[in-house]
Amino acid sequence: MKRSIRDLVGLEGKRILLRTDFNLPMNKVGRITDTTRVVNELPTIRYLVERGAKVIICSHLGRPKGFDFRLSLWPIALILMKYFPGKVQFAHKVIGKEVVEQVASMSNGSILLLENVRFYKEETENDPEFAKHLASLADIYVNDAFGVAHRKHASTFGVARLLPNAIGFLMENEINTIEDAIENPKKPFVAIFGGAKVQDKIKVILNIAKVADAVLIGGAMAYSFLVAQGYTVGQSLISADNVSSASQILDEVNAMGKRIILPIDHIAYNLADKKMKSFETDVLSGDMVGADIGPKTVKLFEEEIAGARQIVWNGPLGKYEDDEFKAGTFKIAKAIARAKAYSIVGGGDSVSAVKQAKCDKLINHISTGGGATLKLMSGETLPGIDVIQEKYI
Ligand code: 3PG
Repeated sequence: MKRSIRDLVGLEGKRILLRTDFNLPMNKVGRITDTTRVVNELPTIRYLVERGAKVIICSHLGRPKGFDFRLSLWPIALILMKYFPGKVQFAHKVIGKEVVEQVASMSNGSILLLENVRFYKEETENDPEFAKHLASLADIYVNDAFGVAHRKHASTFGVARLLPNAIGFLMENEINTIEDAIENPKKPFVAIFGGAKVQDKIKVILNIAKVADAVLIGGAMAYSFLVAQGYTVGQSLISADNVSSASQILDEVNAMGKRIILPIDHIAYNLADKKMKSFETDVLSGDMVGADIGPKTVKLFEEEIAGARQIVWNGPLGKYEDDEFKAGTFKIAKAIARAKAYSIVGGGDSVSAVKQAKCDKLINHISTGGGATLKLMSGETLPGIDVIQEKYI
């Protein structure tokens, strides 16, 4: 078990470098559209502030190439100011003389938000000098950035090796919930996967299939599974790589004696005239493009979900961003919300779908991670977690 901030004593006056994941979604004009990641971080920040620590927050936003004012963390400083009035300052840089001076002038229980750490290419290169500069700002490092724990970057990995360290409450909750769901699943356990790329999900599907009672597959990836089973899928989105990955998964899951359930019908549109129609799996052909699971599949999946005691869902079940093709994803989101089962939803699109379907409050655990959640569910080690000290050493 990793050392948590609860295990840190004598925080009064200590400089804490807190790595958070404030990579918030933004719309086309660069306005932040969802502040959940900040809200979920408040318990850790509050805990440190209340104990008189000097909280230096470091995060990335987007994938900038050098300085890009559109990806500045300044708007996030404004959000933090609302929650901690009079306590928040913003640093226009991450390292250097000015930041060192700002840190030196911090009072106990105050917060300094550093600028976007990815404005420095040294961050993603895990540059040792950059990590040293970061470490020189603080006495203790706390990693609460679960969403980026799968990245071996200077602020998630390099700096952690240079300071006494711990994880924050958000990270602790993510690790405990996800690991427990995979190691001690409540049965029957139903896992649902969607999205486009089978390759990205081979490990997670196989790892979860070992402990799940049924694996339901929807979304664009379902077409690669259907082709691997010998069906025609018309012009639906497939690729040779995805079909071969699907075939590998089908073989291994069958060998485990586990059930993998594929769509039996689809909402498809005609490539030529864009007309929509519902199709059974065995007649999807020609110019038709599958874009959502059909009503019979929804019913089949709903039955599995209703009988489950634990559900894990990752990836949309159709092109839910288009109104004509959102029904399948939204109905499944609602079925998961209605179910008596303990439910975990991870991945940007599925989380966004449960929010749009207005059932996020009924989901037991909404993971803040995308790639990180999949890796943890795959049983893989995440560098940002691995590097943190164990509890009793
Ligand atoms: C996320 O949003 O999934 C995390 O913040 C990681 O972002 P990245 O994929 O740009 O590293």
